[in-house]
Amino acid sequence: MADLSGLTAVITGAAGGIGTAMAEAFARAGARLVLVDIAETAGLAERLGPVHRHAVIDLEDPAAIAAGVERIGRETGIDILVNNAGLGIVFPAEKTEIDAFDRTMRINLRAPWLMAAGALPFLKVSGRGRIVNISSQAGVIAIEEHAAYGASKAGLINLTKVMAIEWARYGITANAIAPTVVETPMALVGWSGEKGEKARGDIPVGRFARPSEIAAAALYLASAEAGIVNGAVLMADGGYSVR
Ligand SMILES: NC(=O)c1ccc[n+]([C@@H]2O[C@H](COP(=O)([O-])OP(=O)(O)OC[C@H]3O[C@@H](n4cnc5c(N)ncnc54)[C@H](O)[C@@H]3O)[C@@H](O)[C@H]2O)c1
Repeated sequence: MADLSGLTAVITGAAGGIGTAMAEAFARAGARLVLVDIAETAGLAERLGPVHRHAVIDLEDPAAIAAGVERIGRETGIDILVNNAGLGIVFPAEKTEIDAFDRTMRINLRAPWLMAAGALPFLKVSGRGRIVNISSQAGVIAIEEHAAYGASKAGLINLTKVMAIEWARYGITANAIAPTVVETPMALVGWSGEKGEKARGDIPVGRFARPSEIAAAALYLASAEAGIVNGAVLMADGGYSVR
């Protein structure tokens, strides 16, 4: 198991299904956590132990991100940044839902960029900085009604690759994880009943991902052992995209 003792990990979207699983896994690995969300994560931080912190930041707000990351970096340093917060609005491509499109881009694509840029000075000081971006299989393959979401997650993959080549010289790696449907309460609402059964059947392993499996993938990419893995997209999709 990865050993993250002595390292500070900032996890965005920590109040959500996958974020909470990541917080638990990273805490077990010995990291000191800073849990970031627009929702309150004080209770989670407290449950995981006295060294952990939390910060309420609206990731749609560039000024709030800049101030928040600067404060976190000054107070705790930043060795690992997990850009996990995300928004999953879906609609057919023919519908020009401009507000939903822009909001999706602000949260899923612009925020990870601004978080990473804000964290960069601290990741440089770390000397073994890690950026893990939570993309989606929808950023790699086409899924109906995922025009905005898929475009944001595809953009996040390319952003990851650019950061990977620009910042490797500082000992920083940047990688993305592209999960299939992950069994969080939110996701199961959209993938219930017959639609869910069919989707599961289309995945070679015959099931959706578990939050703990995405957390384990993130933990690996954040570990010292993954130092040679840079600019990669780790498909966590049960083989769906290679059919
Ligand atoms: N669950 C899935 O099936 C699935 C599949 C592939 C990828 N993903 C990605 O995994 C990540 C986590 O997803 P999840 O299923 O845990 O979702 P979730 O909705 O449970 O959690 C997302 C978190 O992001 C936070 N957030 C949203 N807008 C924010 C803002 N403006 N500022 C700060 N925080 C904000 C929310 O408060 C929430 O806690 C997302 O990026 C999602 O796109 C999820």
